[in-house]
Amino acid sequence: MKNEMTGKIKILKDGPYVVTGNIKLSEKIITSQGKGYVYREGRELPQAKTYTLCRCGKSKNPPFCDGAHSKCDFHGDETASKADFVDRAEVLTGADLDMLDDHRCAFARFCHRNDGTAWELIRQSDNPTLKNEAIKAASECPAGRLVTVEKSGAFIEPEYEPEIVILQDPERGASCGIFVKGGIPLQSADGSLYEKRNRLVLCRCGESVNKPFCDATHIHIKYLDDQV
Ligand code: FES
Repeated sequence: MKNEMTGKIKILKDGPYVVTGNIKLSEKIITSQGKGYVYREGRELPQAKTYTLCRCGKSKNPPFCDGAHSKCDFHGDETASKADFVDRAEVLTGADLDMLDDHRCAFARFCHRNDGTAWELIRQSDNPTLKNEAIKAASECPAGRLVTVEKSGAFIEPEYEPEIVILQDPERGASCGIFVKGGIPLQSADGSLYEKRNRLVLCRCGESVNKPFCDATHIHIKYLDDQV
């Protein structure tokens, strides 16, 4: 979060996300490697100072809004808690590393690594190699569900520049949510602001029960924006 942030994402009632401030837009493809996952570059997406991203899942021009939300009777009520992450998250104690887990899962699976899952790895974090792996497993979670914490109380976060990444998940035959990186402010349809976070994933299939955040429903409904 090095640059001064001028842009933001504004949620429109029963409509799209309006992104202002010239925020970079890209697409990445979740790709398995060993027992873990990496990102592969996706399509090049057009860049603009202001753009609107589909939230209802029905646009014929994804990831952008094409007005379909007004014809499909989209109900985009924001149901997610606005409480801060640290107040919502469960504290998990490991050997040399603790972890916060708010259970807000986008099913991106970066918490799985060759040596185990983030939960298994923190338990073995008195081994420096596995501690490092635990940090990666938590930090690479795009949803920001997992945050590792040193025994000193210091939170560990990757350095991200502000960017919006459209995620694709061909392994699961689905299109994933919108990965918002680098503390871009997120404004509710009612004008209030969500907690600023370095990592979060927004729903774009229209069916999350925890709107505006992704809750992995895109996997169950096999949401496909036909660009995979
Ligand atoms: S939100 Fe406008 S088309 Fe989906």
